[in-house]
Amino acid sequence: MRAVAIQTFGGPEGLAVIDLPVPRPSAGQVLIAAEAIGVGGVDAVIRRGTLAAYGFTTGHVPGGEIAGTVTAVGDGVDAAWVGRRVWGFAGLGGGYAELAVAPAESLVPLPAGLSPADAVTVGSSGAVAHFGLRRACFAPGQSVLVRGAAGGIGIIAVQLAARGGASAVAVTTSSAARGARLTALGATHVLDRAGQAAGDAPAGYDVIIDVAAGPDLPSFFSRLNPNGRMVAVGVIAGYPPPDFAGPMFAAFQKSMSFATFSTDTVPPAERRAATAELFAAAVRGELQAVVHDVLPLAQAVLAHQKMEAGQVFGRIVLVPERSGSDPRAIACAAIER
Ligand SMILES: NC(=O)c1ccc[n+]([C@@H]2O[C@H](COP(=O)([O-])OP(=O)(O)OC[C@H]3O[C@@H](n4cnc5c(N)ncnc54)[C@H](OP(=O)(O)O)[C@@H]3O)[C@@H](O)[C@H]2O)c1
Repeated sequence: MRAVAIQTFGGPEGLAVIDLPVPRPSAGQVLIAAEAIGVGGVDAVIRRGTLAAYGFTTGHVPGGEIAGTVTAVGDGVDAAWVGRRVWGFAGLGGGYAELAVAPAESLVPLPAGLSPADAVTVGSSGAVAHFGLRRACFAPGQSVLVRGAAGGIGIIAVQLAARGGASAVAVTTSSAARGARLTALGATHVLDRAGQAAGDAPAGYDVIIDVAAGPDLPSFFSRLNPNGRMVAVGVIAGYPPPDFAGPMFAAFQKSMSFATFSTDTVPPAERRAATAELFAAAVRGELQAVVHDVLPLAQAVLAHQKMEAGQVFGRIVLVPERSGSDPRAIACAAIER
């Protein structure tokens, strides 16, 4: 099968198309013939070599989020999955390929009316946004700020907060054009990355969902209202300064809270249920999947170049070409051997 692997750490051009044997699903796993593969920010982090100390070597196939058809199952997995169209989460690698293995416990059936590209756009980002807002104890009538709102997570957090009855949904973004697109999705106030608003904006927020973190985190934390909650769900701008708790203690009487949040701590059944509901909302037209671009798998380099250039609003999706042998047939042949 064809896959895209990291040949050299560094820039996007370190990615290359290679031939690999079709993976065999181990116990608890399924094999999926991909129709759509999500390109995530963490793929770029691994590609740069930032996580080399954690066992990511050259030869690694990036990509975690896939939608397609189950072609085989490992031991202990219900064979009824074979032939079903699903969304699956492979983890931190293996996704940029015609066929990928994923844990059966991650699978969510693709509902009629949801394209594979939309599924990999809403799937994992939607879960982060949903559970991040829940961790922040967001309730109707409260004001929300989403930092780093133009990415996959932020775009869905904005929509969920607006749909959930937020009194205000402020966003940070780097351009007026992106601000306009976020406004169309439910944002009520647009701030620049430093937090300056073009017009009026709330002086404080009950909830801050922060995808960026980095050196500016403390100044945003200071904008929490009394009893406000900031939940960091990403670190696009790097780690915050080690003394970032200073503003919390300087304003002790405001009873503010800070938390990190990862969907890794959500039990699989809860993740599946939340993802299925997000898919259903997308089918009903209540949630918009913002697909920035759909590119052939072989153009993974271009996908990463667009990410590096900061051009992406939403999600880039890779699609394996179907001009050669059908990967489902390849998979069956490999399993039969
Ligand atoms: N918590 C979890 O379970 C979980 C799961 C998956 C991924 N993640 C994390 O989520 C992050 C990726 O999220 P994503 O895909 O939604 O984001 P993304 O698309 O990588 O970035 C979102 C937006 O942040 C803005 N941004 C970029 N650099 C910034 C900076 N230095 N300061 C402020 N804003 C900046 C950019 O918009 P503008 O140019 O418009 O400002 C960008 O479009 C990663 O840190 C990843 O590790 C977390």
